This record gives sequence, C-alpha cells and structure tokens, in this order.
Amino acid sequence: MDAIHVLGGNALFGETKIQGSKNAVLPVMAAALLIKDVCVIENCPHISDVYHMQQLLGSTGCKVVRSGETLTIDARNISEDTMAGDHVTGMRSSITLLGAMLGRTGEVTMAYPGGCVIGERPIDLHLNALRRMGVAIYEEEGRFTARAKTLEGAVIRLPVSSVGATENIILAAVTAKGVTVIQNAAMEPEITTLCEFLREAGAVIEGIGGSVLMIQGGHTLHGIRFRVPADRIVAGTYLMSVLGTGGHIFLEDAPVAQMRSMIRTAEKIGAEIHVTRDGLNIIAKDYKNPIPYIKTEIYPGFPTDMQSVLMAVLSTCPGESVIEETIFEDRFRIASQLRKMGARVELKGKRQAVITGVDSLLGCEVAAEELRGGAALVAAGSMALGETVVKNCHFIERGYEDICRDYQNLGVNIFWQR
Ligand code: EPZ
Repeated sequence: MDAIHVLGGNALFGETKIQGSKNAVLPVMAAALLIKDVCVIENCPHISDVYHMQQLLGSTGCKVVRSGETLTIDARNISEDTMAGDHVTGMRSSITLLGAMLGRTGEVTMAYPGGCVIGERPIDLHLNALRRMGVAIYEEEGRFTARAKTLEGAVIRLPVSSVGATENIILAAVTAKGVTVIQNAAMEPEITTLCEFLREAGAVIEGIGGSVLMIQGGHTLHGIRFRVPADRIVAGTYLMSVLGTGGHIFLEDAPVAQMRSMIRTAEKIGAEIHVTRDGLNIIAKDYKNPIPYIKTEIYPGFPTDMQSVLMAVLSTCPGESVIEETIFEDRFRIASQLRKMGARVELKGKRQAVITGVDSLLGCEVAAEELRGGAALVAAGSMALGETVVKNCHFIERGYEDICRDYQNLGVNIFWQR
C-alpha cells in the first residue's frame, strides 16, 4: 500500500527547494562509466531511478558510494558486460548505458528497457544510429547484445530528435575513432548537461545546446566533480499547482532559464512571476484563463512531461482548453482519473484533449499509472475540495524525492500512507 492522502482546497503559501534533475543525473551517471577514474556528482536526487542506476553501475563493477546528495562513482575497474535484468527493465534510461558500455568495453548484453507506460517507446533510433557507428546488434527474446570491434565516428541524422538516442550517440561518440556529427539532435537541457559533463572530463564537443552536435572522439577522459542542475519538471509541477489553488510560493533553485515555455503558459493562465537570483517567485492571481490551444513540443516548446499537471490546472479554469500531445501517443491516462474528481475532459483520439473548466475538483480515490500523471494527481488533490487519496505512488518516487515534503513546505495538508 503506497498511497498519498491530500486534504486540498486551500491556497499554497511557502517555499520549497527544488531537487536535482532526474533526467539530467541519469545520463551523467551512465557517462561516468566511460571514465577510468573517479567522478563526484553532486545534487543527486534521492529517487528510485537513481537507485536503480546505482545498482546497474554496480553490476558492471563500478564502485558507487552515496553520501547525502553526493555520489562518488569509481569506474576504474569494470568487470561485467551483462546488465542486471531487473534494473534494466525497471527503467527507461537504462538504455543510455548501451552507448556508455559500448564506449567502455565494446560489448554489452541487456534486456529491453522498461519505464513509464506512456506509449510505444521503441529503441530503433538508438540501435540504427549505433549500427552506423560500426556496432553489430544481435536480438534475442527480450534482450539483445551489441558489439563493436571499433566504434567509428559517423554522420547521423535523426529522423526524430529523440533525447535518449542523442544521449546514446554522444556516449558512444566520445570514445569512437574520428568525428561524429549528430543532425537533428535533441536540444533538451539534459543533453546540454551531459555534454558539459563530458567536456569538463576532457571530451571535445561542439554545438552544445543546438541541433547539430559535433563530437571528436578518442580524447582521454578524466574524473571530475560535477553538480547536477535542479529539476525543471519538478519545479514546473509546483508552478502549475499554485495556479490551481491560488496563493504565493517561492521555488528555490528553480532552473528558470530552462522553464521559459512553462512560465509563459503560467502567465497566460494567470500568474505573476518574478525571477530572483535564487529561484522563482509565483503569485497566483484571482482569475484563471483557459488556454484555447497548446501542444507539447520538443525543447524549447512546452514539455510533454508537464502535460498532465497542466491538464489538472486547466480542469479548474473557466472555459474551454485544448491540449495536443505531439510527443507520446498514450499520455492522457490521467484523464479518466481526473474525471472521477469531477473534471470534464474529453479525449479526441489519442492526441487531443478538450477540457471544460469546472468550479472545483472534488477529492476522491484515484490511482497513479505512471510518474508524471501520478504527480499531477497529487497536484489535483491539492486543488480539490476534501480528501484525495492517490494510490500506486511508487511511480511518483521514480522522479520526486519527497512530493509530500515539498507540498507540506507549501502549506498543504498531505501525508504518505505506507
Ligand atoms: C526522455 O525520454 C525523457 N526520459 C522523458 O521523460 C521525456 O518525456 C522525453 O525524453 C521527451 O522529452 C528520460 O530522459 C529518462 P525520446 P526518451 O526518445 O528519451 C520516439 C519522465 O517522465 N522514439 O525523446 O525515451 C518516441 O516514441 C520521462 O521523466 C522512437 O520512435 O524520449 C517518442 O515518440 C517520461 N524511436 C519520441 O521519439 C526511438 O528509438 C521522443 O522520445 C526513440 C524514440
């Protein structure tokens, strides 16, 4: 039994510090495997995905030690080339270990990665790109082996700017022979973080932050100390929450530069937002506007990971809003749960949701089916009148260090039931 109880309906007041970013720390941990040295990674969030990645690195022979928010990864001695199956299938980003293991040992066998049920989530782009770099892939039931005598630099144009595929190519490219060019590379901030980590460790990467990356392989990498930036999606969750409840909150360390599209959307709904040196100050205004049309997009557009919590807020904005999901084909699972709370959400196929605002949501029992949808249900609970019980909250722990602690800091009556 892992449920969260929220007594909602009150305005949010207070401040909370934003944890380190899940989607930034995971590829950085994978990258540490490429470095025959010791790396110290600061601001690592206490979330289950990081714990799984620690186990996976451990299964390769890396020594990983946590002290508070700091992970020390000693990858001087690598022994195994088979990834522990349970941890791989439990987490999508285990796939980034593919590029890292190939770069380090030239061979890896792993199970097909798991992760949240938000659509098909194939890995064809990863595998095709690595094939272009000289990797042979042998697929068996439920798992595959990838092997490369030598990794060769290549020009790779991604048909879709996939975050994970871009990360894998970068990881393979830093140890490859020659130059790799990635065209239509993903530009998400987590890619920039990965490139900065590798560059500080001695890799040569040009075009960081843009859609064309050039990686000169073969430079010796050395251990570094590196700080993971704060999590833009966690910060965005609380930003959207206060719009739904009203109030005034401060999000310490919120990575403002990465949150422009969310801030613009929040201002349209009705928020006064001040960027300070240390974070984000948000005052929710008395009125709320619907959003006639918004679509999720690749960065710097509005992130798909914020779509569920936006839906929760729009459920209480008078008027009609339309959300189009362009990244994943099955990411409206939260709609049926919000309906239980009184929301009026109509799905038009798998890609469009029409939301007609109601006066208020009503607390009831709902169930998380995946990470971001689960967090959005907790946010909806903070907006709803009465008690909301969100079941299956282990999904939320994949990405939120302690969502109850954060909401308590913002004045919400909320607790875990374990
Ligand atoms: C990353 O997933 C994030 N995960 C996701 O966050 C995020 O929603 C997503 O990027 C988009 O921003 C991590 O960083 C661990 P993609 P990823 O490859 O890399 C298609 C969260 O909640 N595609 O950019 O898996 C795919 O189906 C998670 O924190 C292929 O067709 O996303 C999707 O439609 C959820 N073939 C699109 O590309 C492939 O081989 C973008 O996916 C790979 C992807």
